Amino acid sequence: VLDIRKLYGQADVFTYDPGFTSTASCDSTITYIDGDKGELWYRGYPIEQLAANSNYLEVCYLLLYAELPTPDQMRDFEFRVTRHTMVHEQMHNFFRGFRRDAHPMATMVGVIGAMSAFYHDSTDVNDPWQREVAAIRLIAKLPTIAAMAYKYSIGQPFVYPQNDLDYASNFLNMCFSVPAEKYNVDPALARAMDRIFTLHADHEQNASTSTVRLAGSSGANPFACIAAGIACLWGPAHGGANQACLEMLREIGTVDRIPEFIARAKDKNDPFKLMGFGHRVYKNFDPRATVMKESADEVLELLGVGDNPTLQVAKELEKIALEDEYFIEKKLYPNVDFYSGIILEAMGFPTSMFTPIFALSRTVGWIAQWKEMIGDPQNKIGRPRQLYVGSAKRDYVDLNAR
Ligand code: ACO
Repeated sequence: VLDIRKLYGQADVFTYDPGFTSTASCDSTITYIDGDKGELWYRGYPIEQLAANSNYLEVCYLLLYAELPTPDQMRDFEFRVTRHTMVHEQMHNFFRGFRRDAHPMATMVGVIGAMSAFYHDSTDVNDPWQREVAAIRLIAKLPTIAAMAYKYSIGQPFVYPQNDLDYASNFLNMCFSVPAEKYNVDPALARAMDRIFTLHADHEQNASTSTVRLAGSSGANPFACIAAGIACLWGPAHGGANQACLEMLREIGTVDRIPEFIARAKDKNDPFKLMGFGHRVYKNFDPRATVMKESADEVLELLGVGDNPTLQVAKELEKIALEDEYFIEKKLYPNVDFYSGIILEAMGFPTSMFTPIFALSRTVGWIAQWKEMIGDPQNKIGRPRQLYVGSAKRDYVDLNAR
């Protein structure tokens, strides 16, 4: 065993915390979570109140500027966002370079990274005005880019943003309207979409947000940092869980097969996990899931799709797992991704669009956290240490002598 202090010689005490289960990497005034009580606040406001009374763009303002806007501030913010919803026409060519069957997240990682090439006039991280413009550009353009990734993957023409629509309706319109037919966004569905955006807007130092902060700590431009966050979000243990969850529900297929999958989830020798269950921080319930469940019930009723077999399996699985000793003992509850997947499926989104929708919702949280970090004079480059457990020092042996 190597003596780590002798080896590194710089610090007397090293914190070894794989997965950062108990290490804070920063201080922040943006989001508060109490995992035991199941509480989530944005700038002090409980998520339940925001989901019931506010809307996503107002929540964006709150996350970015720390206070709820006055009516004038809100009008000005909406104006600034809607003015930036179009993407540079040349970006269409960039999309066309991707394979038609690419996952929309693959396209998003590439296109958002490429924003630093298209919008260099907002990449100087030392200029507060440029930081502000980059934040607005990202919030405004993410729905356009996510919808374009979708349209491209199904071979339909891109639909331009329509700025007389609210943020959520505009996104639904860009995803579901086609030039040949009139498409009217259902206000109840737009409201459900807006709530999905709001509930995903920020979640303090989760994996993707920590990735954005770490990338940003080196001075990388905001578009590159958000592309890094999107790449991290894609994984099935994080934002990719909503897609993985729906795919799991489809694989289960019928209610009678649920016990087989529950048994697999409990089997230590089987890597299978019930997707959409469990959370690193919430150990009683996920407050976002409570709101999302209500929304799911409303949407299913509205669309009259309650008898959809996938959704039937979801409802039954939730019931069985919530009464199961294993899940109770390990404090595993449905998380936000379990219900968001159900709503998005009912709305007609393919599973491949679930994570891009999470990414567009979380962009404001990433950018608010990035701005907070860049504006902090104490900010230094993130540089975790490691516990080296490899070979002791040894001499090189010539190839022919091995
Ligand atoms: N199904 C079955 N067992 C589970 C599950 C699950 N979904 N989640 C955790 N467990 C078990 C683990 O096997 C472990 O058992 P052990 O104590 O016998 O070793 C115990 O519960 C603790 O789980 P960990 O994986 O150590 O918990 P961690 O905090 O590291 O992981 C995570 C949390 C990643 C969310 C995990 O619960 C998981 O993989 N869930 C499924 C994926 C998912 O839904 N992710 C979305 C998270 S929410 C979000 O990103 C928006």
